[in-house]
Amino acid sequence: MIYGVGIDILKTNRVNLTLSEKILSEREKAIYEVLKKEERKREFLAGRFAAKEAFFKALKIGIGKIPFKDVQIIYNNDLGNPELFADGKAKELLGDLNISAVHTSITHEKDYVVAVVILEI
Ligand SMILES: CC(C)(COP(=O)(O)OP(=O)(O)OC[C@H]1O[C@@H](n2cnc3c(N)ncnc32)[C@H](O)[C@@H]1OP(=O)(O)O)[C@@H](O)C(=O)NCCC(=O)NCCS
Repeated sequence: MIYGVGIDILKTNRVNLTLSEKILSEREKAIYEVLKKEERKREFLAGRFAAKEAFFKALKIGIGKIPFKDVQIIYNNDLGNPELFADGKAKELLGDLNISAVHTSITHEKDYVVAVVILEI
């Protein structure tokens, strides 16, 4: 059964690269740091930011209760499929809500990124 769905759209150029410290978990940072082009870094960072906001919306708890770094969206296979993993407070909350699966999708086109998260119980 679906517990919640969240969506977020973001203008990529609103994302300052200095935000990477606040937004990215260690595993995401490892991927981010080997990206060469600034444009791709911004796109990757904006995608993570949007997916985390979409996750908070799907949880129905509002923004600001869970640190961005407690959520990580990394690739679950060589094809680039993104998968969301929760740590700390985010993990606790998923347990409390009995969430059994998290589905995440990210897209970017020119100046915008969009992310969708669906939570199942
Ligand atoms: C999935 C795919 C259709 C996306 O194509 P696209 O329209 O150029 O890209 P979009 O902007 O819509 O989406 C990009 C995002 O889709 C996600 N994505 C990438 N590959 C994916 C896949 N196989 N399944 C689901 N989501 C995928 C990623 O989150 C990516 O953003 P991120 O890397 O910043 O996290 C394309 O990457 C594809 O065909 N992949 C198949 C695997 C492949 O051939 N990979 C080559 C790797 S070098």
